[in-house]
Amino acid sequence: ISGRKTIIANWKMHGNLARNQHLVEKYLDGLQSLHANVVVCVPYPYLAQIQSFLQGTHLAWGAQNVAKFEEGAYTGEVSAEMLRDFGAQYVIIGHSERSTAYCESDENIAEKFMMAKRHGLTPVLCVGETLLEREAGVMERVVGRQLETIVRLFGGEAFADTIVSYEPIWAIGTGLAATAEQAVAMHQFIRDTIAGASKSAAASLKILYGGSVNPQNAIQLLHQKEIDGALVGRCSLEAGQFIKICQSVP
Ligand code: G3H
Repeated sequence: ISGRKTIIANWKMHGNLARNQHLVEKYLDGLQSLHANVVVCVPYPYLAQIQSFLQGTHLAWGAQNVAKFEEGAYTGEVSAEMLRDFGAQYVIIGHSERSTAYCESDENIAEKFMMAKRHGLTPVLCVGETLLEREAGVMERVVGRQLETIVRLFGGEAFADTIVSYEPIWAIGTGLAATAEQAVAMHQFIRDTIAGASKSAAASLKILYGGSVNPQNAIQLLHQKEIDGALVGRCSLEAGQFIKICQSVP
C-alpha cells in the first residue's frame, strides 16, 4: 500500500451493466491525474465487467464481501481465490450493513479478514459504533472490541498493510457525517490500539473514514493527516460527486 490516500467507492447493491459502464467511463474521464489511489468495490456479478474496464488503468477494483472458507460445499459463497481470478485487489470486510442484516459475528469477520490476506487481497475492515453507543460514551470500547478479535485470533501483525475504515453506523447513509474532530479522535484510537499489539503493523495500516462523505465535507476530512482516505457509498454512484471527492485529496 503506498503512502497516498485511498478513496474507495462502495457501490453496495446498485448498478446494472449499462449504468456501470456509464459510471466507470465518467470516473476514468474525470480521474486522469490524481494524488489518490482509487478503488471501486462492485457487486460480485460485475467483477468481470469492472475488470474489463479498469485493467491497465490507474484504478483498482474489489468486492464487498468474501467467504471465510477456502472452497467447498458453501452454497452462495464466493471465495478469495475467485475474487483474485477477476483481478480484485481489495475486499470490504464486516460492513455494518452485513453484520446487522446477516448476523456476522466478530469472529466470522476476523476469519474473512485473514482469508483475504492469505490470498493477497487487501482487506478493508469496517468498524464503528451505533448512535446509542456514542451517546453512552462507549464508542472506543465497541471499536476496540471489533479490532481486538482479530488481534486475539491472529496477532497484531495481521494488520500489516491492511485498511481499517472507521464507519460510525449513525453516519452511514444519513447525510450526517462525523466531524473531522470526531473522526480524528477515533482514528488515533484505532492506530494506538493496533500499535499496542504491533508497532510495525500500526505504521503500515491505513485508516479511512466512511459515512456520508460528500464533496463538501471531503475537503476537511481528507486534509487531516490521521485520515488516510475515505470509503464512499451514495456519492460514489454519482460520477461528478465521486470525482470531486477524489480531487479533494491534498
Ligand atoms: O461503505 C460505505 C459507507 O457505508 C458509507 O456509505 O457514503 O452512503 O454514507 P454512505
